[in-house]
Amino acid sequence: MIIAVDGPAASGKGTIAKALGRHYGLPVLDTGLLYRAVGLAVLKTGGDPDHEADALAACTFKDAVLTEPALRSEAVGSLASRVSIHQSVRQALIKRQRDFATQPGGAILDGRDIATVIAPDADAKIFVTASVHVRAQRRYQDALSHGGHPDMDSLIADIQARDTRDMSRDHAPLRVADGADLLDTSNLTIDAAVQQAIAMVDAQLERRRKG
Ligand code: CDP
Repeated sequence: MIIAVDGPAASGKGTIAKALGRHYGLPVLDTGLLYRAVGLAVLKTGGDPDHEADALAACTFKDAVLTEPALRSEAVGSLASRVSIHQSVRQALIKRQRDFATQPGGAILDGRDIATVIAPDADAKIFVTASVHVRAQRRYQDALSHGGHPDMDSLIADIQARDTRDMSRDHAPLRVADGADLLDTSNLTIDAAVQQAIAMVDAQLERRRKG
C-alpha cells in the first residue's frame, strides 16, 4: 500500500507522515530531504541554484548527506525550493522516490508532488495545509526551541515566497491531487491532526476496497 502526503512548508505533513508510518507499520520517505540535499550540495560547491546545469550536477549526492543536520535550516529549505523548479533535477530524483514507493510491503512518502507525479495511483492521498500565520508560528517556535533568534516577519515572507514558487512552477507544481482529502491543521493539535489523517486514510482504503 502506498500513502501519499503532500502539502506546503510547515503544514505538518512530515509529522503526519511519520505518525501514519507508525500506525500502519510502513517506512516513510521525506522527499523534501532529497531536494534539500541538492540545495546544500550547490551551496557547498559554490554553484548557482537557479542555474539548471549547476543544480543537476548537485544531484549525485551520497545517501549519507540525508542525515546532515544542516539540511534542516531555513536557508537550505529556500535553496531546495529554487533547485526544485528545474525539470532535469526533478527527473534525476524520480527513480529514488519510485523505488521507495514500490518496495514490497508498501510505503509512505511526503512532499509536494507525491500524489500528482511520483505515485498518482497511491492507495490513499492526503493534502495537509495550514494558514500562513500558523505555519510561520510553528517555524518560530521550532527555531526558539533550537536556541535560535527567529524573526516572525521574515519567516512569514519566506513561507509566502516558497508557497508562490512551489505553486507557480511549470513542473510538478504544488496542488491538491484528484482524489486527495484536504486536512487543514491550522486549529488542530498534533494528536487531532493525526487522528483525522488516519480516519481519512481508512475511509479512502475502504472506498477502494469496495471499488
Ligand atoms: O519541510 P518543508 O515543508 O519546509 O520543506 P521540504 O518538504 O523539506 O521541501 C523543501 C523544498 O523542496 C520545497 O519548498 C519544494 O520546493 C521542494 N520539494 C519539491 O519540489 N518536491 C517534493 N516532493 C518535496 C520538496
